[in-house]
Amino acid sequence: MKGVIFNILEELVIETAGIVAWNSILEKLELKGIYTAGQSYPDEELFALVGEISTSLNKPAPEIVGHFGEYLFHQLNQRYPEFTTQQTDLRAFLKSVHDVIHVEVRKLYESPNLPTITCHEPDEDTLVMEYRSPRQLCILAEGLVRGAAEYYKTPIEMTHPVCTHKGADHCDLVIRFL
Ligand code: HEM
Repeated sequence: MKGVIFNILEELVIETAGIVAWNSILEKLELKGIYTAGQSYPDEELFALVGEISTSLNKPAPEIVGHFGEYLFHQLNQRYPEFTTQQTDLRAFLKSVHDVIHVEVRKLYESPNLPTITCHEPDEDTLVMEYRSPRQLCILAEGLVRGAAEYYKTPIEMTHPVCTHKGADHCDLVIRFL
């Protein structure tokens, strides 16, 4: 995972729990905590940080990951505002993640690890995002979608009926526009 993701996780922990909490998390994991935005670090290091944040804040790891996804969206949007300014509504934005945004991410960062996302629209109120990734960060994807819905001030209902954590070969994020 790229250093930028670690940088944003650090910002979130410092903002919500303080610098002392962040330093003690790093100390427990014997990590230096110095991450350069464009450099890649082992996924296991991110998962270990999430595990330790979950223990120290006494919250389940999926809750931390989901909340981080929301926060991550707003932070990425501040760093790269062109992606939301190019798309006038939430549906168009979500449909552009795989073929536009993550394609640009490949130009901005060297060899990023990105998921495969395929969208289909079973009816006019529904968008299904099929998520595939060996990192199984579907809860992060859910959080990113919620962050985008907040940004576009668009009320949605999201379900996640098909999930690799329940043995499926991909995840379905079913987004209903209310
Ligand atoms: C709702 C919108 C988005 C969704 C659902 C989404 C989904 C994801 C997910 C789930 C990952 C984790 C990697 C994996 O699962 O394999 C990821 C990575 C990433 N995404 Fe997106 N993304 C969204 C918007 C954006 C935007 C707006 C940017 C802005 C540039 C962005 C840039 C990145 C970057 C830099 C990574 C990390 C790559 C790495 O660490 O190697 N994404 N995305």
